[in-house]
Amino acid sequence: MKPIFADNAAIEHATKLLQQGRLVAFPTETVYGLGADASNPEAIRRIFKVKNRPANHPLIVHISGVEQLKDWAQKIPESAKTLASAFWPGPLTFILNKKPDVPLEVTGGQNTIALRMPDHPVALALLSKFEGGIAAPSANIYCRISPTQASHVEDELGDSVDMILDGGACKIGVESTIVDLTGPIPKLLRPGLISKAEIEGVLGIEIMTADTTSENSSQNNRAPGMNAVHYAPITPTALCEHDKLTAVLNNLRVQNKRVGLLSYQFNPPENRFMHMLCMPEQAESYAQILYACLRELDNKGLDIILIEQTPDTDDWIAINDRINKATSIFKDA
Ligand code: TXA
Ligand code: MG
Repeated sequence: MKPIFADNAAIEHATKLLQQGRLVAFPTETVYGLGADASNPEAIRRIFKVKNRPANHPLIVHISGVEQLKDWAQKIPESAKTLASAFWPGPLTFILNKKPDVPLEVTGGQNTIALRMPDHPVALALLSKFEGGIAAPSANIYCRISPTQASHVEDELGDSVDMILDGGACKIGVESTIVDLTGPIPKLLRPGLISKAEIEGVLGIEIMTADTTSENSSQNNRAPGMNAVHYAPITPTALCEHDKLTAVLNNLRVQNKRVGLLSYQFNPPENRFMHMLCMPEQAESYAQILYACLRELDNKGLDIILIEQTPDTDDWIAINDRINKATSIFKDA
């Protein structure tokens, strides 16, 4: 399916497709979503089929404003309204208690629902024309890298999607922050551009963080992106500390391996035998192109992709989370 420039006519057509229960990929400020009418269980099932996603892995419902929260959620806490007025439209998803009539297909059988208002003109125009909620996971095959350009969706999902709206490259590049507001204290389930500290600043309280390391916690079964492998290239991908890179690269060269490197600050003495992409030093710019760069290297048929370790400071939390997930199969080079 060729992406179509998202002008008014294309958005109009996309709205009709959604009303017919079909799938429309569309841009958001974070990553491209694979959208379907959130009130249509048949359409939702198609999302799961196309993504090859397990049916118990819940979707985010995209809405056009805080006033739509009540169409999907009940017992909405004050914190949702406070956070929405601070960060919506924007890359922040709330987990709330779902209303009884929300199809269980959307929520993976759970009584909670994920909701967000995206900050992208195309997504907002589509939502306002469609007038309902649009369920949209990232428009990639389950566990693979999220798409940040329309062409990524085309490459990955081909004709299994009914329309791809092209709204350019996503400006944030990593998925939204997810915060669970169903308990007495909000809990951060997935880090994103909006940080824990920013959320705490607005709420005026400390919030909790999901334990992403314990595999036995039942909480983790419903927390996002917590499978062993997620957001991952197909090529084996490893994280490498700056100081070890020279030795690791020499070792791989001796073995005649074809190597891809996402370099952060590393300057190799010579780089003829590898494909190196130099990444920006600033976290927000790095995040914006991370997935596109991983895709580019993944398409080269290499033996291994190395990612040079990035800083351990707060502004890198979301990026390091995604890098850790991408490299979880192959920890050491
Ligand atoms: O930035 C984003 O959030 C993008 C764009 C398209 O909006 N969407 C996205 O969707 O990343 P997806 O499906 O790839 O990731 C949504 C995550 C899933 O990992 C899922 O586990 C979590 O949200 N989630 C959805 N409903 C949930 C719930 N009721 N409780 C806990 N986690 C939930
Ligand atoms: Mg995803």
